[in-house]
Parts: sequence; structure tokens; C-alpha cells
Amino acid sequence: MRVIFLGAPGTGKGTQAVWLSEKFAIPQISTGDILRKAVAEGTELGKAADAIMKSGGLVSDELIVALVRERLEQPDCRPGFILDGFPRTIAQGESLDLMLGREKAIQSVLFFEVSEAEIVTRLTSRRTCSGCARNYNMISDPPPASGLCDSCGGRIIQRPDDSEETVRKRLQVYEEKTAPLKEFYNEQKKLYILRAEQPVERVREELVTLLSGL
Ligand code: AP5
Repeated sequence: MRVIFLGAPGTGKGTQAVWLSEKFAIPQISTGDILRKAVAEGTELGKAADAIMKSGGLVSDELIVALVRERLEQPDCRPGFILDGFPRTIAQGESLDLMLGREKAIQSVLFFEVSEAEIVTRLTSRRTCSGCARNYNMISDPPPASGLCDSCGGRIIQRPDDSEETVRKRLQVYEEKTAPLKEFYNEQKKLYILRAEQPVERVREELVTLLSGL
């Protein structure tokens, strides 16, 4: 299985990708998670990405494409992978096509459809573990009262880019740079719409139904 989860920020891509990755034993490749780890470790990549991520902008195509190329060469990607948050520009989509070639081409692109009002609610109420990156939500999936993650014991925080102002900026950037990928994959006849504005379990069921019909 070689799939892309496409959609605006906060549409539930990460939530479903973590689950699907465990179910099918294939890696979830989240460019956001890789970048946040690099920022936390203070690497060169992290230094280049930090301010851009905090402002809600996009990290350069060159850096991101190099990072994904290196990740896809790892042996655990051979049986398949879920790309979560990549590609985010047409240039990244074109680079991915070249990288994979015909034999290993992406099979399907699932577009997570959620209204803007729901996205803003989900993101401003999201909380994230600073240790293992697990997501919680003050409304739909509250974190433990201790403020510590019940998976790894890490401290639960609010991501700096989850303030309402930055969420609105991210949505603007999404419309401008990422939304055109819908048509890009529609033309390749790989695009499937997932009704993601439903409870997590319902979205999960629809996801499985969609994937098993492909
Ligand atoms: P990234 O980490 O990829 O952020 P994003 O795409 O903005 O996605 P999110 O993680 O915000 O949302 P999600 O769709 O995964 O939703 P989630 O499942 O968490 O990127 C961060 C930054 O890194 C970017 O802004 C950019 O700067 C940089 N970057 C990353 N990739 C890049 C690239 N390719 N090129 C350039 N720059 C790049 O769910 C959200 C919340 O809702 C959670 O609290 C969850 O519990 C809850 N929730 C989930 N599903 C449901 C549901 N069905 N009902 C109710 N609540 C739900």
C-alpha cells in the first residue's frame, strides 16, 4: 500500500495515519513530525524550519523533498507507506512522482474533507505529547489531568502553531499552495474523498471501506 493522506491542517490525517500504520504494519511518514523532532534536537534542518513552522508557512521544497527521499529509501518502506503531510505543493508532488517512478507509484490519494469551522475548533483544542507526539483533544479526546502522556509519560503541550491566528494563516497557505494538489491527483485518477467530519471511529470505518475497494 502506497498512499497519500491529503487535506488541510487539522482534518485528522495524523490521527488516522497512526492507526492505519499499526493495522497494516507500514510506516506513517509525517513530514511535520520529522521536522518537529529536528527542531527539538536542534539540527541544521530544525534550525532552518523552526521559525517558518511557528509562523504557519511552508518549509522549502528542496529541504522537504531531500528529507522524504532519504526516508523512503529506508527498508521499512518497501512493503508500503502512508505519506501524511507530504506533498504540500505541486513541485513536491512532481518530485515524488519522479522519485517513485512507475513501478512504485502512489496508488491512491485520500482527501480528508472537513469544514473550516470544524478545523479551527479541532486545532485550537488539540494538545500534543512533547515526548511521543501523540495527539489529544480537549473536546473529543481529553488528556490525563496530570498533564502527562499516558503512552510515554511525556509532557503534554499545545503546539505553538495551534493558536487561532496561526491556524488561520496555515489555512490560507493551504488554500494557496496545497489545495491545487487535489486537481493534480484527480487528473491522475488517484483521488478519493473521505468524509472526515465525522467521529474518529466513523472516519476509520469509511477509510477501511475505501481502501479495501481499491
Ligand atoms: P504538520 O504537522 O503536517 O501539520 P498539518 O498538516 O498542519 O496537520 P496537523 O498535524 O495540524 O493536522 P492533522 O490533519 O494531522 O490532524 P490531527 O489528526 O492531528 O505540519 C506542521 C508544519 O510543518 C507545517 O505548517 C509546515 O510549516 C511544516 N511542514 C510539514 N510538512 C511540510 C511539507 N510537506 N512541506 C513544507 N512544509 C511542511 O487532528 C487534529 C485534532 O483533531 C487532534 O486533536 C485530534 O485528536 C482531533 N481529531 C482528529 N480526528 C477527529 C475527528 N474525526 N473528530 C473530532 N476530532 C478529531
